[in-house]
Amino acid sequence: MSAETPSVAAVDPWVARDVAVVWHGFTQMAAYPGNVPITVERAEGRELIDVRGNRYFDAISSLWVTTLGHRVPELDAAVIDQLGRVAHATLLGNGSRSVVEFAEALAAVVPVDDAHTVFASDGAVAIEQALKIAFQYWVNRGEPGHTGFLALGDGYHGDTVGALSVGDGGFGTSVFDPLRFPVLRTPGYADPDWAVKAIAAIAANAGTLAAMIIEPLVQGASGILVADPEDLAAVGRACREHGVLLICDEVATGFGRTGKLFASQWAGPDFRPDIICLGKGISGGYLPLSATVASRTVYEGFLGEDLGTATFYHGHSYGGNALACAVAMRHLQLIAEWKVLDHVVEVAAHLATRLDQLISGLSGVAAVRQCGLMVGIELAPPAGAERWGRRVCAGSVGRGVLLRPLGDVVVIMPPLTSTAEELDRVVDVLAESIRDVWAEDAQ
Ligand SMILES: Cc1ncc(COP(=O)(O)O)c(C=O)c1O
Repeated sequence: MSAETPSVAAVDPWVARDVAVVWHGFTQMAAYPGNVPITVERAEGRELIDVRGNRYFDAISSLWVTTLGHRVPELDAAVIDQLGRVAHATLLGNGSRSVVEFAEALAAVVPVDDAHTVFASDGAVAIEQALKIAFQYWVNRGEPGHTGFLALGDGYHGDTVGALSVGDGGFGTSVFDPLRFPVLRTPGYADPDWAVKAIAAIAANAGTLAAMIIEPLVQGASGILVADPEDLAAVGRACREHGVLLICDEVATGFGRTGKLFASQWAGPDFRPDIICLGKGISGGYLPLSATVASRTVYEGFLGEDLGTATFYHGHSYGGNALACAVAMRHLQLIAEWKVLDHVVEVAAHLATRLDQLISGLSGVAAVRQCGLMVGIELAPPAGAERWGRRVCAGSVGRGVLLRPLGDVVVIMPPLTSTAEELDRVVDVLAESIRDVWAEDAQ
């Protein structure tokens, strides 16, 4: 530890206990205490409250999972009610009532034909399942030459090895390059011709592709890069025309984030992915749950002899957790009952106006990108300036708004029920933080 680094205990005794035993994901632990993390103890509505009683507006929805807020009485009640029945029973070979009920509700709303759902607990696992299903689908059909995947530049699909393989670089992935399987990659949404190039690759490689995987409408983790829905629709048509399975990764965009229940729906009613991956907001941010939703055609490709080779030999211990499915079911009902999608459209428009008025023109801001309640503010640090994203977000946290950057892109991903006033506060605080950091470096 250098002379300037404050001792862990001097920073915060909870941080000292934390670093003694916890290893945080995507976090350099040597720098963790110095980055002044908060230790959350409880929450109320859309605010997190730390062990010292400080309150923070959760402007990143606890890493994009919290939809309606924290401690929603109706969701709390759904968990408690299910606890009175059973917390978990395996789905391997047997059924579980709350899982059946949620899968039925999901099938009624997801843009996949006659949906059948494989449940898991994290988004990356939903992706792994989709890749394996797509691969085995062709083997089961007796066409084993379809082994490749088409994926986009700037794509992110999670951190397990298969998900890392279809994802593009960045986020420290290069160390794992020897483990990643090769994929065919065409440019992402930063290229205005991404769809034309993807369609050409689909046409040229249809005979060897198992599937194309795409984050419909928004590439989130690469800094909220937004596509035109018409381009998305054209890519969907090309996949259908050339017989390439289309996997839509809606882990980040699903459950209302973009103003529709699923981002795929912006591409129109004819856009019907073969497989959709869901996670994050699926349980309202309450319990780990993810889902790989396959069309009837894909599902039927796996039907055959008991214990035969056509079976999908994949499943996780907690896949189809009863508590998670019970809360996910109530969450889906509340999205409709509370007209959450209308609210998202309304407050997203308000947020766009405020960002335009207060952020876009600031020195140190290169671009503001938004789709629904997904916002990326790309900072433009002056030459030689360091850790801008980190410093701007630390300034916001100090002012009671919890933000976390992706490099030098500040992400605003507030709960879907956020009010216009709360969003105004987020924008005001962010503008102050950017001005402060600019002033420090401009001297
Ligand atoms: C589009 C997308 N896919 C997959 C994942 C991985 O989800 P999880 O972190 O639950 O594994 C993420 C996470 O940010 C994501 O944004």
